[in-house]
Amino acid sequence: MKMLTLRRPDDWHLHLRDGDVLQAVIGDTSRHFARAIIMPNLVPPVVTTSDARAYRERILAALPAGDRFEPLMTLYLTENTDPDDVEEGKRSGLISAVKLYPAGATTNSHGGVRDFNKAMPVLERMAKIGLPLCVHGEVTTPEVDIFDREAVFIETVLDPLRQRLPELKVTMEHVTTADGIDYIKSSKGNLAGSITTHHLIINRNAILVGGIRPHYYCLPVAKRENHRLALRAAATSGDARFFLGTDSAPHVDPLKECGCGCAGIYTSVNTMSCLAHVFEDDNALDRLEAFTSLNGPAWYDLKPNEEKITLEKRDEPVTFPAKRDSGAGPITVFDPMFPLHWQVID
Ligand code: DOR
Ligand code: ZN
Repeated sequence: MKMLTLRRPDDWHLHLRDGDVLQAVIGDTSRHFARAIIMPNLVPPVVTTSDARAYRERILAALPAGDRFEPLMTLYLTENTDPDDVEEGKRSGLISAVKLYPAGATTNSHGGVRDFNKAMPVLERMAKIGLPLCVHGEVTTPEVDIFDREAVFIETVLDPLRQRLPELKVTMEHVTTADGIDYIKSSKGNLAGSITTHHLIINRNAILVGGIRPHYYCLPVAKRENHRLALRAAATSGDARFFLGTDSAPHVDPLKECGCGCAGIYTSVNTMSCLAHVFEDDNALDRLEAFTSLNGPAWYDLKPNEEKITLEKRDEPVTFPAKRDSGAGPITVFDPMFPLHWQVID
């Protein structure tokens, strides 16, 4: 039997939702993770510091008794975001980052940014006060093929923005392509990338071969195998510019299993088991802690967690619930399509 002890991990990109779904899913994160960057794409979105304060209270109220978990709040960038409110949010310690959704890129992103010139005053203020911008890096131009949207975003939006504001700290979230990995590696600072659990495991075949499988559909959509391999190499390399952001994104089954299903994969339940499997496969178990527990805090200027978690590798496969029930309906848990043997025991 193998054991592995790590500093308690953090999740640098997480959707907790609100109401019944929040209540159902929060424990799956707080069981293993100490902190998480909380996505602001609620309906309506978390736009102001006061929205974020109220949402944080709802998250803390939903925590299972006895769990310690720190939600790191973000604001949803709009063309009308007030730079003073953002600065106040950062100074009060409430706001850890601002999230950029190009309008129409994904779930609840219609209030996002269309004209980057309009967002410049906020971005300039963020650069000045050292507040990171978390980016959903996909263009939404209808002519651009969905599998090319990340690469085109880097070339036409991200790189020009970084040249215009080199002091701005940017997290390229849920990187899904070799292009994204190469761009981060070639940058000379102020750029890092989060990688999801599922993009290390599935390629686009998971969604489309043998039938349409909505529970593997997320955005950015999984790409070809060569991209998945580039993500694996980056995540398992120990390179401090790459860290875990699960993008665990629960939707109740009826909203995924229908004619126009929502994007999002719910991985909080078994993420640590999946990651231990992936890192072991790549002979990199000794670098799992960097990916889940060290590189992220260093990027966000936070201390790594002092607490530890232990994983154990069992001979028999470990089982997880196939669904998490919520007051709003069942939520399907990510199935990595291979047996999991690692389990967090403590
Ligand atoms: O798959 C995704 N789900 N990607 C996103 O960018 C948003 C998220 C969600 O909120 O469901
Ligand atoms: Zn997300």
